[in-house]
Amino acid sequence: MSTPAGPGALQFPPGFLWGTATASYQIEGAFDEDGRGPSIWDTFSHTPGKVQDGDTGDVAVDHYHRYRDDVALMGELGVHAYRFSVAWPRIVPAASGAVEQRGLDFYSRLVDELLGKGIAPVATLYHWDLPQWLEDADGWGNRDTAYRFAEYAAEVARVLGDRVHTWTTLNEPWCSAFLGYGSGVHAPGRTETETSLRAAHHLNLAHGLALSAIAPHVSADSQKSVTLNLHHVRPATDSPADIDAARRVDAVANRVFLGPMLSGEYPADLFADTEAITDWGFVQEGDLAAISATPVTLLGINYYNPTLVRAAEGERAADAFDGHGNGAGTPWPGCEGVEFVQQPGPYTAMGWPVDESGLYDLLQRVSKDYPSLPLAITENGSAWEDEVSADGEVHDPQRVDYLSRHLSAAHRAIADGVDLRGYFVWSLLDNFEWAYGYSKRFGIVRVDYDTQQRTPKDSFKLYQQVVAQNALPQ
Ligand code: NOJ
Repeated sequence: MSTPAGPGALQFPPGFLWGTATASYQIEGAFDEDGRGPSIWDTFSHTPGKVQDGDTGDVAVDHYHRYRDDVALMGELGVHAYRFSVAWPRIVPAASGAVEQRGLDFYSRLVDELLGKGIAPVATLYHWDLPQWLEDADGWGNRDTAYRFAEYAAEVARVLGDRVHTWTTLNEPWCSAFLGYGSGVHAPGRTETETSLRAAHHLNLAHGLALSAIAPHVSADSQKSVTLNLHHVRPATDSPADIDAARRVDAVANRVFLGPMLSGEYPADLFADTEAITDWGFVQEGDLAAISATPVTLLGINYYNPTLVRAAEGERAADAFDGHGNGAGTPWPGCEGVEFVQQPGPYTAMGWPVDESGLYDLLQRVSKDYPSLPLAITENGSAWEDEVSADGEVHDPQRVDYLSRHLSAAHRAIADGVDLRGYFVWSLLDNFEWAYGYSKRFGIVRVDYDTQQRTPKDSFKLYQQVVAQNALPQ
């Protein structure tokens, strides 16, 4: 039941799903408790020079012990759904493949706590914390990892399938493949271009095998999804060369996943663009059928900012302003001669431009390409240099503004016919921002990392109002 919105408020459709999101390694801590094994992020963050200030997820925001308080906060926020991820190394800690019941029990307690507050659990099976024992056998470079993922997914679904209604296989496989194995700025920190494409395929395979593996354990009408960080790629001009630059980036950022998962095929232009790197011989007969065998019923989209590209003068490699490409390798195979262009500000603390028109355009594009597929924004949010005021409050006008702009873009997309079912703000809590450690704060709740005290920010209050009114106040 929503409370009435004021005049001019942007009303969302009845039943619109409001939520918030987190991920296991970023919040849980308790890195060696209850039988959890090491993940690639434990190894990476404990390697000097990989994460800013030497930060690790050993303690993070101690959610493993404080999950009841955090669910209570969500209750106060009023959200209908909570998107969290299951840590694979808690469930299958070692190469023996034995399942750790204590790991499953934690997520079972979390799910019960959520349901007790009327909050729907939205479970992601992989948000980047690959068990180290799998990486020791070549990680996502090895197709066997896809089969191990499907087995693990089935174990989780067997225990939570009666209570979790929305299942997401992977979060942002682009990052896993191209930042993990291409630029190396994410764990496991490898800079092998060919492996990054191989990893992308094995992630696609893992997605398909896992959706089929969980099917017997979840209700027939449950939502089956994947979350992609689709890049809204714009050419700097309408010259054929710039349009081709945008096409190349779109192929290796978006269609490399959308194609196999939603249409059962790889884009031919991606194969042509990357032919100097690989012949894609790792795509075996039957793989494409396996990837698309169990259809996706809801596509999760993570959106932060658009991407602007042009054809470089001469042979300059893709790098620079994409916010991710500053490693030794390239996260953009097949995009040689493409240049990323600095976009106008304002910029968030990540240096990412604030531009909600990219969200509107992206939703329109996906909805045009896949007209019958319901969509959800599974992440959207921003990091800023938050400060605690003398009154103990955190006034974060820039995050409030970012949120309002993007909600209004989402509203406009729905009004123009996009089948958008829900929105999840990133993130409930300040947390471990991967290679940036704790230096970047995305939460609508501040966390004091010394005391673990949680303080809702002004953006939390705005979102609370949005959820209560099912509308964006004007
Ligand atoms: C995407 C990732 O899924 C999440 O883990 C990360 O913290 C946010 N984007 C912000 O960078």
